[in-house]
Amino acid sequence: MADPWTPDGWRKAPIDNVPTYPDQERLAHVEATLAAFPPLVFAGEARRLESNLARVADGKAFLLQGGDCAESFAEFRANTIRDTFRVMLQMAVVLTYGAAMPVVKLGRMAGQFAKPRSAETETKDGVSLPSYRGDIVNGIDFTPEARIPDPERMVRAYNQSAATLNLLRAFASGGFADLRKVHQWTLGCVAGSLQGRLYEDLANRLSETLSFMEACGLSSETTPQIRETEFFTSHEALLLPYEQALTRIDSTSGDCYDCSAHFLWIGERTRRLDGAHVEFLRGVKNPIGFKVGPGMAGDDLLRLIDRLNPDNRAGRITLITRMGPENLEDKLPALVRRVAREGRKVVWSCDPMHANTVRAASGYKTRLFDRILAEVRAFFAVHKAEGTHAGGVHIEMTGQDVTECVGGAVSVTEASLGDRYHTHCDPRLNATQALELAFLIADQLKADRNAHAVERQATNF
Ligand code: PEP
Ligand code: CO
Repeated sequence: MADPWTPDGWRKAPIDNVPTYPDQERLAHVEATLAAFPPLVFAGEARRLESNLARVADGKAFLLQGGDCAESFAEFRANTIRDTFRVMLQMAVVLTYGAAMPVVKLGRMAGQFAKPRSAETETKDGVSLPSYRGDIVNGIDFTPEARIPDPERMVRAYNQSAATLNLLRAFASGGFADLRKVHQWTLGCVAGSLQGRLYEDLANRLSETLSFMEACGLSSETTPQIRETEFFTSHEALLLPYEQALTRIDSTSGDCYDCSAHFLWIGERTRRLDGAHVEFLRGVKNPIGFKVGPGMAGDDLLRLIDRLNPDNRAGRITLITRMGPENLEDKLPALVRRVAREGRKVVWSCDPMHANTVRAASGYKTRLFDRILAEVRAFFAVHKAEGTHAGGVHIEMTGQDVTECVGGAVSVTEASLGDRYHTHCDPRLNATQALELAFLIADQLKADRNAHAVERQATNF
């Protein structure tokens, strides 16, 4: 091969947003420890996700990717995992029903710990300390000790990821996700809202359909698709020593997989073509993605796609746009046209969060729910105009009743941000806001489906 790849080849490339550990010996020891631990996911599961994503690329399914901005050691609880999972199930039901299309469920969970930072340091009251880089790297407390990168944190992140994944697998296949339980997924905080009532109405219709199917002999006992769901995990592949340590050769195919998650993505700050993160991810066979901000030029986009997916495998690449509504309207059409014209097979997914972060007068980092909705609407409008598939969304959300993003039907106001502001990094949608977004997307998908049906009828005449 002209351009051979090795799991440690990234170490020679320029690198951003990976800390320098003061104790290199401890780092090497931790890397060796992790390399001897069992993989968290299996290559066959990653291949299965890739084939599901290939259906999204082909316009026949929709991708729902969501979870915390940053998981934390402090908020590691079964209820938190369960509640995020159940809101994703609710959103998926709303979308599947609206679009009559399978929904690929992908959590930003069980490994989403490392955070890229725009600034090396954080300053408070005249004191500057190294930035917090996520619990897998250092501590959030504003003290010099907490901010020292500690390699042992990788082992703790691995253990927490394993336990989280174990619970998610149990929920997905152990009965919790059975469609007959569709009513029970509603959280108390959602129940009284308009979204809660809309969901209840949909759940009633779904239950009736299931009763009909049961009468025809298709029940949750006989049909695994009713009883279980498929749920995959993902995180930003930022902390490369950790990702490399969890990379394994799959004995059935001989290929290398990063077994820390099914899907990995490269962030907006680390996607340079000759950089370490691109170098690492080009060699692992998992489905992967990268963020596409407003500064991305068409030529650079093509080069990056080809570097990461030289065989043009459908399902391998997900392009996650994060531009803000105005920039998206302005820049996305040309990029979509270019990718389509060059015949590259990709999933287009919309992250309406990361270009819409603002600081409230009170000092809280927040996002206006209306801007998030506006970016999703703009995304659908562009794809409709270009005749391409608006393939998915990528959101920061939680099942907890937090007050981090301003707006929504059960309105969070700027004044109430302080009530339940718990995020370790960026502000997340709460359960009601997430459901509201799902209804909006379902409407868009339904409108697209009806438009296609009319087109098909027209061409039949
Ligand atoms: C993120 O997804 O948490 C993130 C940091 O995004 P971006 O790379 O798009 O800024
Ligand atoms: Co974020």
